[in-house]
Amino acid sequence: MRIHPSILSADFGQLAHELNRIKTADAAHIDVMDNHFVPNLTIGLPVVKRLREISPIPLDVHLMITRADTESIRYAKLGVSSITIHLEACENPKRTIQDLKDLGVQVAVAIKPATPVESAFEFLPELDMLLIMTVEPGFGGQPMLDATLDKIPVARREIDLLAKPIILQVDGGVTVSNIGRLSSLGVDCVVAGSAVFDDGDAAENIAALRKAASPSA
Ligand code: DX5
Ligand code: ZN
Repeated sequence: MRIHPSILSADFGQLAHELNRIKTADAAHIDVMDNHFVPNLTIGLPVVKRLREISPIPLDVHLMITRADTESIRYAKLGVSSITIHLEACENPKRTIQDLKDLGVQVAVAIKPATPVESAFEFLPELDMLLIMTVEPGFGGQPMLDATLDKIPVARREIDLLAKPIILQVDGGVTVSNIGRLSSLGVDCVVAGSAVFDDGDAAENIAALRKAASPSA
């Protein structure tokens, strides 16, 4: 199981230090919110650019912004590892996915809880990752919406049919208590904000999540 801590729950006053606390993770998840697509505002291009320069691990950039078709290109040009665009925020997902791929970045599509997982399937062959949101995007620390879990095995089957290494990621409400279930449903990668940063040592929390994802290991 890949673990991507979301820095939305980190201390924004010392992001360099916070990135170092999670250097045992597979990537740092960066939540970009524009106060239009979601009712919250976080960071934009200049900050993501600097985080890319100082981060000891790759950046997984989750764009919760409108006009994703044009704006995502600007983030891809920063040299981040992956870009996630919301299907609901794109006018022409097919073309945008190709434009992003041409820039050499890994590309993911995200779907909100109310969006059927099947609506992402036509784009899957071109994707590196599919993100199923397990909370309403906008805020950390929310409980996982159980109804969203039904999408996971459906997506898993579709990915396996393609026989391509497309990562199945979930984001929202992941804890040591539910990560085992996510793993058994076929999730490859979780985003975890509050479960990593809220209490205790971030590196220990990452290790605990990994362990709980594969209890038999
Ligand atoms: C929510 C963000 C998430 C969030 C996850 O809109 O996309 O990445 O930070 O936080 P937790 O793990 O606390 O639900
Ligand atoms: Zn996110």
